[in-house]
Order: sequence, then C-alpha cells, then structure tokens
Amino acid sequence: SQRTLVLLKPDAVRRGLVGEILGRIEKKAGWTISALELRQLEREVLEQHYAEHVGKPFYEPLVEFMASGPAVALVVEGERVIEGVRALAGPTDPIAAAPGSIRGDFGTIVRENLIHASDSAESAEREIKIFFPGLA
Ligand code: GTP
Ligand code: MG
Repeated sequence: SQRTLVLLKPDAVRRGLVGEILGRIEKKAGWTISALELRQLEREVLEQHYAEHVGKPFYEPLVEFMASGPAVALVVEGERVIEGVRALAGPTDPIAAAPGSIRGDFGTIVRENLIHASDSAESAEREIKIFFPGLA
C-alpha cells in the first residue's frame, strides 16, 4: 500500500470544511489516517514544500496564503492513495474541476483550492519528512 501527505489549506479551515473533506477521505474503503495535526504553517516549511515553484509568478502569493491561518496536515495510508486523494481533490483550477470533487464542489479560486495532495510516491516521502519528521 501507499501513503500520501495531504494539507487542508487555510481556506478550508476558515470556511469550516475540514469535517466535510476529512469525511470524504475517511470513507474511502481501506484508507487510514495515520497522522493529523492542525497547525500554523511556518514560512520555512512552506518554502521547502513548494520548492519546485520558486520563481513562478504565483509562488509568493501562494506561500503568503498558505501562511495566512492554520492548516490541517495529515498522512493517509492505503490502496492507491496517492492518485486516489488527487482524484477526490480534482484538478488545480476549481472551475475546471467536476462537481463531486472537493475543488469542484467548494472552490472557485485557483490559489484557494482547499487541499494539497502529494503527486507521486517520491513527493509523498519528501513531503511527509517535511511535515512529520518524527514519522517512520
Ligand atoms: P497542490 O496539491 O497544492 O500541490 O496542487 P496541484 O498539485 O494541483 O498544483 P501545483 O503543485 O501545480 O501548484 C501548487 C498550488 O499553487 C496550487 O494548488 C494552487 O494553489 C497554486 N497554483 C498553481 N498554479 C497556479 C496558477 O497558475 N495561478 C495561481 N494563482 N495559483 C496557482
Ligand atoms: Mg502540487
């Protein structure tokens, strides 16, 4: 089985959507939430997390948004969970995301798209180390 790093972004926390989003993840057969924390994300952590986007026009406003209030970080384990959580989330642009997906149901703004999920096994291991350095 696989594991993935998920962030419920500050817009999800501010809008009271944490329970709704966690519920969708929790209800998938055989998936387990193995770590979960509500926390204010520090700039250093976000700079590591979004290193691939340094220099892009959306980078600075993205880091600022991600530090604008508490977020929920979690690790989810289970069958095909990396592609599975990204499928639940929908595409980056919420207007392009189908209804039924998290971004498609609740989002309109590209930056404020509610959820992050690791995009590969390599990304997942890198990101889990950033957010949960104590996790094996
Ligand atoms: P994450 O799961 O958050 O990594 O989203 P993603 O993998 O769907 O998108 P990507 O890694 O390409 O970009 C990271 C985040 O930057 C996105 O989730 C958006 O919040 C933001 N972002 C990406 N592209 C754009 C863009 O063109 N404009 C703006 N304003 N924000 C963007
Ligand atoms: Mg990404």
